[in-house]
Amino acid sequence: MRGRLRVAGAKNSSLAVIAAAALAPDRSVLENVPLCRDVLTIVEILRALGVGAEFTGPGRLELDTRDITDHVASYDLCRQMRASFYVAGTLLGRLGRAEVPLPGGCVIGSRPVDFHIRGFEALGARAVTQHGFLKLHAPRLRPGTFFVPRSSVGTTINLMLAAARISGATVLQNVARDPEVVDTAVFLSLMGARVRGAGTSTITIEGTKDLRGARYSIIPDRIEAGTYLIAAAATHGDVLIEDLIPEHVTALLAKLAETGAEVQPEPTGVRVHVERDLRPIEVDTAPYPGFATDLHPQMAAMLATAVGRSAIRETIFESRFGYAIELRRMGGDIRIEGDTAIVTGVPHLSAAPVEAVDLRAGAAMVIGGLQARGETQITRLENIDRGYEGLEQKLRALGAEVQRVSA
Ligand code: EPU
Repeated sequence: MRGRLRVAGAKNSSLAVIAAAALAPDRSVLENVPLCRDVLTIVEILRALGVGAEFTGPGRLELDTRDITDHVASYDLCRQMRASFYVAGTLLGRLGRAEVPLPGGCVIGSRPVDFHIRGFEALGARAVTQHGFLKLHAPRLRPGTFFVPRSSVGTTINLMLAAARISGATVLQNVARDPEVVDTAVFLSLMGARVRGAGTSTITIEGTKDLRGARYSIIPDRIEAGTYLIAAAATHGDVLIEDLIPEHVTALLAKLAETGAEVQPEPTGVRVHVERDLRPIEVDTAPYPGFATDLHPQMAAMLATAVGRSAIRETIFESRFGYAIELRRMGGDIRIEGDTAIVTGVPHLSAAPVEAVDLRAGAAMVIGGLQARGETQITRLENIDRGYEGLEQKLRALGAEVQRVSA
């Protein structure tokens, strides 16, 4: 793959910021919002609650959140993605009550919501789980202090949302430090909350009932950027990824350099090029700023053709290995030992029909298919569409032969 590519706005920031906008009875304008399925899902969830939402230009989402007419979120929409749970923080903060379907388990792990619930309780909410819904009720929310038991992006954001409407200082300790948390904090500040410490392990929020709408541009998607950086290295290509924030992908860039890929900062982005065989490496996924679990499957697909034996230890989600069985169909040599994938490089992969079993596993199939000899067919594209805007156009612009074929 050769050429240059501009990264889209961050999906996971957009989901949180869109939910945050609905805290204020006002209007907001968001720019750089990626047009991917998860974003459309959160928009639909909010529309069903009475919010007006229109895409009025490329990446521009205008929200009219003056009226929220319901406190019960749709089961059919919420079950499609875990981030739907952010409406719990929004509705609780805005209306003092919320009924939100439990997101349940999903293919990458059990993914409970116990931290979210305990955090809401620390802010004065009563929480009951009934008929598959979390029901939250709080005639009066109060500021509180909550220690998040382990780094959790979702818990940090959900509690920030509710706290942004509570006057007095709420202190969240041991929180996630991810850029998406910081992005949400910046947006909440623009809305009128006082948020300090985002990006560190303690965040203090002084909220207000007088939140107002805001204009904001979402940060670039570090996972999308990382996916294309890995794809470029895997295909021994030469690609400049533009508009990403290099600090957001430090752990990835260090690992790519360790494989022998040439990683160069450029004025407009990061260039990666590879001229020789890649070396095997050891990777441990970790909370930000460590190596992102959301880049684990893609990295495995790249290492499938490195010369030697690599190991990827997964420390965030217990069943993130769904990609392995699919990469094996392409001739990949991947063995799972406990929490670790042992990837022994083969000289080349061979094209095969494979499934995108989840979003990032789907990205790994694309990277496998780009390297494989022959024509790879990937099904269950709806999983890839959850988080990648215009994937095939972007790949084609870099020289890949890729087509979406109807079923
Ligand atoms: N956890 C609990 N209890 C909770 C919440 C989390 O035990 O109440 C555990 C989880 O099971 C997991 C760990 O804590 O083992 C971390 O989970 P976290 O809450 O950070 O994950 P999340 O908020 O559900 C977000 C991203 C994921 C990304 C993870 C980890 C969004 C919308 N999702 O999920 O992104 O993998 O953080 O970085 O921001 C993706 O985009 O493909 C994706 C899955």
